[in-house]
Amino acid sequence: MSSKSLEIRARNLVKFENGSKIANKWTIMRMLGTGAFGVVYKVADTSYDLFAMKTEKYTPRNVLKVEVKVLSMAKKRKMSHFLKLFETGTCKGGVRGEYLIYIVMELAGSSLDALRRLRPNRRFTLLCALTIGVQFIGAIEELHELGYQHRDIKAANFAIGHVPEGTEDQHRRKSFYIIDFGLCRAVIDSSGNLRHPRKAAPFRGTVRYAPLNCHILRETCRKDDLESWLYSQIEYTRGSLPWRDLNNIVDVGLYKERCRHDIGLGELMGGCPRQYIKILRYLDSLRYYDKPDYKHICDLLKDAGKIFGQFKPTYDWIDEGLRGGNGNAEITERSSNPSRS
Ligand SMILES: Nc1ncnc2c1ncn2[C@@H]1O[C@H](COP(=O)(O)OP(=O)(O)O)[C@@H](O)[C@H]1O
Ligand SMILES: [Mg+2]
Repeated sequence: MSSKSLEIRARNLVKFENGSKIANKWTIMRMLGTGAFGVVYKVADTSYDLFAMKTEKYTPRNVLKVEVKVLSMAKKRKMSHFLKLFETGTCKGGVRGEYLIYIVMELAGSSLDALRRLRPNRRFTLLCALTIGVQFIGAIEELHELGYQHRDIKAANFAIGHVPEGTEDQHRRKSFYIIDFGLCRAVIDSSGNLRHPRKAAPFRGTVRYAPLNCHILRETCRKDDLESWLYSQIEYTRGSLPWRDLNNIVDVGLYKERCRHDIGLGELMGGCPRQYIKILRYLDSLRYYDKPDYKHICDLLKDAGKIFGQFKPTYDWIDEGLRGGNGNAEITERSSNPSRS
């Protein structure tokens, strides 16, 4: 991470003691995660119902404002892969008494990345990986329909539903939610047309999952979210990506380029269904203004499931039980992950 983003990180994180109160209503239970811009807490309201609160030090350009926009639009349009937004506000608080902005939303269960790390060899069974893939594509399609691209698609930003203590709500363990809209960018302009690409665009996202366009500082578009998804999909299908030990933007970009051909392709896709190669080729054929064919990608994933007879949605965390097996194992993203300089 660059020194600039480290500086942003230090400046914007708002720290609360457990048990402290925000806006006379929300009690901080504990920290759930920290990211590049803010801290997420598990909070309880006055009826002891649990929620997630994302906080950020107030600045004229808060990334939380984009989150509020996206979550509000998703709620209005009853999108199925978005957590419900309950409240937004500003107040003074935190251990340093800063002025802050907060949002309160539905509590999610584990991220898919946290669930993957609990698995043998850090990968899901193939049918489960395909099940996640179909849901992930559905979530990305919904976000694009709202007119936004995510720009930080990865399994750490995709979560299953939260199962309240003492309940056995299987349905929530089979629900998937896209989170973290801090890096979202509108893809349409005020007249409803696709925005034209900028001549150059700064690197945004996470080096490991960033699309090739991002590595060469070219404007990204909807298909680039899908390229990031495909890298995540390969990672939870086979357990790792070949460039997992590299961090440098240029080195990782060159590696991704090499994995399009011959030996590199085998290195990337070894252990994955051949349909993943078709998806890669399809995504690489798309251009800036093209609308991706989400159904085509889902059909290829379902097709890959036919080696077991028929594609059948499968959930490893339900079928086999995992440590923290109710799917509420909250594992924070590794701090080395996001590169938001
Ligand atoms: N609604 C939520 N419910 C439960 N945990 C959450 C929720 N939102 C975020 N988290 C946790 O906090 C972490 C950081 O939040 P995220 O929205 O990804 O922000 P960022 O990465 O921009 O800081 C997530 O990886 C997740 O572990
Ligand atoms: Mg995140």
